[in-house]
Parts: sequence; C-alpha cells; structure tokens
Amino acid sequence: MDRTDESSTLQQRWFADRYAENARFVSDRAEPLIELLAPTNDEIILDLGCGDGALTKLIADAGATAIGVDASVDQIIASRNLGIPSAVMDGHNLAFNEVFDAILTNAALHWMTSPNEVIDGMWNALKPGGRVVGEMGGAGNIAKITRALTKALERRNLHKKVVFPWFFPSEADYRQRLEARGFIVDYMALIPRPTALPGEFTAWLDTFAEQFLFLVPKKERVAFKEEISDAVRPDLFDPHGCWVADYVRLRFSATRPEKDS
Ligand code: BEZ
Repeated sequence: MDRTDESSTLQQRWFADRYAENARFVSDRAEPLIELLAPTNDEIILDLGCGDGALTKLIADAGATAIGVDASVDQIIASRNLGIPSAVMDGHNLAFNEVFDAILTNAALHWMTSPNEVIDGMWNALKPGGRVVGEMGGAGNIAKITRALTKALERRNLHKKVVFPWFFPSEADYRQRLEARGFIVDYMALIPRPTALPGEFTAWLDTFAEQFLFLVPKKERVAFKEEISDAVRPDLFDPHGCWVADYVRLRFSATRPEKDS
C-alpha cells in the first residue's frame, strides 16, 4: 500500500514495520494472557487478530498448533514470514466451524465495533468444550488520550466527523454479551495498566490513531499531533522521560460448554 495515498481509506492502516517499531510492547506485555491460556501440545489454537504473529509464535513454541487470522494483509505477510500458518480474515466474519480447542485474542477485540458478531464467530469456531482467552481495552481505556484528541478536533470543528474506532466495554457489558451467546465466563477482570511507550507520543498517534489524524489536512497534522502531546503531557509524561499511556485492560476467559443449554 502506498503510504502517501490516503484517498482510498479513512480507516486505520497497519504496516508491519511501523508496528514492530512502535507497538512491540503489545505482544511483549501479553505473558499473563499466555499463562491464563495455558496451551498444551495437543491443542489447535486460533490467534484472533494475530498482527505480525509474535504472540502466535509463543503459542506454537509452547507446543500447540497455532493459526493466526488478521484483517491486515501486511501483518499476515509478516506473520507468515515467522512461519505462522495465517490468513487474512475480518474478526467480524470468522469462517470456522468447531475447529479450535481454544482462541487467544490480544489487543484486537477493541478494534471490532460489532462485538456480538465477533462473539458469534468465536462460538462457532470453537469445538464444544473449547475456551476463549482474551484481553482488550476496557472501560476507561485511553480516556485521557481520547479526551485530548476530541478537544483538538473540536477546536477545528471536525469532531462531528469522527467515527469512534474503538469498543472499550465494562466487565458487566462484555460478560452479558458472552453469556447471552451461551458462554460460561470463567474469569473477567478490568485491570488498569499504565503502559510505557517505546518512543514519542506522536509515534503512538501515527501508529494507532490514524482515523483521527486523517480528518486534519496534511499540512496541519504535525501541529495537531504536537497539540495533543502537549495536552496529555502533564498526565502521561513520566518524570523519568518516558511516555506512559493510560491503558485499562479487560481480561477474560470463557468456555463454550460441551452441550448447548
Ligand atoms: C489498546 O491496546 O488499548 C489500544 C491501542 C491503540 C488504540 C486504542 C487502544
């Protein structure tokens, strides 16, 4: 994809090299999730929203058969380069029928804004008795960042044009959706997790907030990003010289029962 051409999309784009440089912490911080998943070597496991496959590889290294899906072609190329069997697939349209012993999903579900479709697809993809272990942005996630982004757009009278790209549910909301589909919720917790960023805050905006940036004319974008950085600096710039994003994780584990009730 030509990175200078924005005409074909106002959507967030995923480039494997930019992700590796600015977002490696996403898979690096996923160890508790792998512990909760506890993969075994006789299992077939789907990594939903596998990105560049770094986490999928950890599941495979634990001995399981791990397969990844992601909506980004560029990320799937990167994951195949790691040797991960993977396919381009939107999480809203999972095309599997009782294939997997487990699904792992990290930092992906909050990009899927029709959650019931995703939950339906996960249910169908799991064998009866299978489990889904996931982590996503939960209620209150990046609240300070979102506020600064919205205010900067308001100052330009652009705020009404934003289609909010994220879904950050509360525990009660997500539990209700899973249970309505028939899942047994084994674990659910909302975990504030301030997250150190590897570089400048503007790089986080470039990597994760393109849907907001695209609303601003290109020649004004540097100033727009600096304005947002300045707004969040008092809260998110650590005195040791590091940016720390106000992440809140919703972590859960749920089982598709052996028999439908
Ligand atoms: C998150 O992992 O919580 C997240 C990252 C980028 C944008 C929105 C949320």
